[in-house]
Amino acid sequence: MSGINQGRHIAILGAGVIGASWAALFLAAGHRVAVFDPAAGAEDAVRKYIDSSSFTLEELGLRSRGTQHNLSFHSTAVSAVASAEFVQESVPERLDLKHALYAAIEPVLKKDAVVASSASGLRLSEMQAGWRDPSRLILGHPFNPPHLIPLVEVMGNERTAPGVVDEAERLYRSLGKVTIRVNREVPGHIANRLQAALWREAIHLMSIGAASVEDIDTAIWAGPGLRWAAMGPAMLFHLGAGQGGMAAFCERYAPSFHRWWDDLGNARLDPDTVAKLVAGVSDEAASSSPEVLCERRDELILAMLKATARIRQN
Ligand SMILES: NC(=O)c1ccc[n+]([C@@H]2O[C@H](COP(=O)([O-])OP(=O)(O)OC[C@H]3O[C@@H](n4cnc5c(N)ncnc54)[C@H](O)[C@@H]3O)[C@@H](O)[C@H]2O)c1
Repeated sequence: MSGINQGRHIAILGAGVIGASWAALFLAAGHRVAVFDPAAGAEDAVRKYIDSSSFTLEELGLRSRGTQHNLSFHSTAVSAVASAEFVQESVPERLDLKHALYAAIEPVLKKDAVVASSASGLRLSEMQAGWRDPSRLILGHPFNPPHLIPLVEVMGNERTAPGVVDEAERLYRSLGKVTIRVNREVPGHIANRLQAALWREAIHLMSIGAASVEDIDTAIWAGPGLRWAAMGPAMLFHLGAGQGGMAAFCERYAPSFHRWWDDLGNARLDPDTVAKLVAGVSDEAASSSPEVLCERRDELILAMLKATARIRQN
């Protein structure tokens, strides 16, 4: 992959929830996007998605309207990747599917093309097993929807060619993404595990009747969630004990945290728990449809991103 500025050839393999959003983002950043998705109606669905994401992308400072002349649809993965410098693979989370796709595209990829998988849970080493030479395959795991949420978790390993992860990070950053490196393979990478840890305790608290689903949700968005959107937990706690910083915080609060950690619960999504969650969310969602709630979620996230962009740049 040579320069990264604009006008690069990007291939999107799999254009469902995640791939369509990636396609919209790459297009809005000025790249040429070739899509392959075998589903009937995929082209219409992607074009609609791109139209519907235009407002958000333009609010984020990208140029989305009128970019569809840079978009092409292909009847095979081979044709979509033929001139691609960067491939974002977002096919379903099944190793057999991903391996079959890699076997098909590997012989025709440009020599210096980088392939990034959006996989949420599959390990990089498992995906590498589908390649003769996996040196240009990396993990590029976004958060849904990738055109809005900044985080991308990037990972290579000892089989990855030098510089490939750096190249991918530069490309993602040029799209406005915030990248982190995953240094060791763990199921769920980093951010999904953190979400899972929090959700486990949220479900435990609901199960023992400590609070309602709605109040537990409120406890996050109106409390620590708002702080976490500004800074991560380590930095926030560093600021939580005055001049003494993290060392003083740990000294002061170690007994409390040890007591709380020892008391944290466990959770399984068994039928009884799922029924309680469904009932709890139904109360919380009241009469709003998922579409209306999605719009509200994206509107709030967009407002926060826009309001904080200038401060983050300084
Ligand atoms: N949905 C999420 O919240 C989320 C978040 C981050 C990462 N991911 C990851 O992104 C990947 C895609 O997830 P999704 O939610 O977009 O799934 P999805 O089911 O919405 O989309 C997958 C698309 O791939 C297409 N497809 C199937 N076989 C294909 C093939 N051989 N070649 C090309 N396209 C093919 C399907 O027709 C479908 O449109 C998965 O690895 C998933 O773990 C999902």
